[in-house]
Amino acid sequence: MKRLTALLLVLVMAFSMTACKKNTNEDTNAPDTNPESTQAPANEGNGDTDGTGGNEAQGRSLEELTVGFAQMDNTNSWRIAETNDMLAKLEAAGIEVVYADAGADTAKQASDIEDMVAQGVDYIVLPPQEEDGLQGALQAAMGAGIPVILIDRGVNGEVGKDYTTAIMSDFIWEGQQVANRLIEITAGDPTNVVILQGTQGATATIDRQTGFMDAIDGSNLTVIADQTANFVMSDAQAVMENIIQAQGDKIDIVYAHNDDMAIGAIAALKAAGYKPGEDVIVASVDGSKAAMEAIIAGELYMTVSCSPFFGDIVIDTITKIEAGEDIPDFIVNQDTVYDKTNADVAKGF
Ligand code: AHR
Repeated sequence: MKRLTALLLVLVMAFSMTACKKNTNEDTNAPDTNPESTQAPANEGNGDTDGTGGNEAQGRSLEELTVGFAQMDNTNSWRIAETNDMLAKLEAAGIEVVYADAGADTAKQASDIEDMVAQGVDYIVLPPQEEDGLQGALQAAMGAGIPVILIDRGVNGEVGKDYTTAIMSDFIWEGQQVANRLIEITAGDPTNVVILQGTQGATATIDRQTGFMDAIDGSNLTVIADQTANFVMSDAQAVMENIIQAQGDKIDIVYAHNDDMAIGAIAALKAAGYKPGEDVIVASVDGSKAAMEAIIAGELYMTVSCSPFFGDIVIDTITKIEAGEDIPDFIVNQDTVYDKTNADVAKGF
């Protein structure tokens, strides 16, 4: 069982008892939040005997380091927030940054990583565009003694071989939260769902889909259209226009794998004369400011937060590696469900 998601699932299962208690007991007004910043311990069968991901303590200061940040693209608000935060935090810490934008092309992201290895950077940080296609470049970096910190998404690979540590949200949990709420509010009525998927091959897409589909299995929800819109608002608007033409009044719910696509779908629904929030329920994931505003306006039913802010934890991880301290193999970010009861623009990115 190699894929990172499988390990995340084990983590989630390990902490699920705590999560259930937290979300269903005394305080019924508390937002649904997954277990706080769960961490898998280091040294779990990866040949890493000192907990540092196989990296020796070098004791360098942050100002002495060069970090390669191999971004996948900047095509939506979440990704831009991630890029801005990472660059600002690394630069503020005095770290020299080698930055590349792969333009949503996995082959380009692999060659960006290889270029960073050739340049002799000290660390490589990346959100993988897809779960496959980067292993050769990642193993070249690890083989050259450059720690690889995966942020945001996973790869089909092994800690200690393809990467040093991975920090991300639990995308399966996010998809489950959307499904569970939609099942709850439709109260058994036969309900038709349109899904707008993210980038194909990305763990965010695969797991948000799996979490959702498994949760609606056997329920009153039926998927009548299921297409990709690449996590991009304009793509989602165009895809949704076509789906409206084909399905029209049959559409009860739109589940978009991210907020930008939900906003695109809302625009398409409005242009076609539908009232989002009344005629069609729209739900998504990310927790952007625009999503919070749409919830408050009654056009978006819910979103599940997914933090794009990795700068601080990456610097903390690098600091620990340099000091020879233990680092976890995986860190799972905490996410929260937002709807009209707790939507807050200040909490969006
Ligand atoms: O991997 C995280 C997802 O990727 C975010 O939900 C989305 O907005 C981004 O492109």
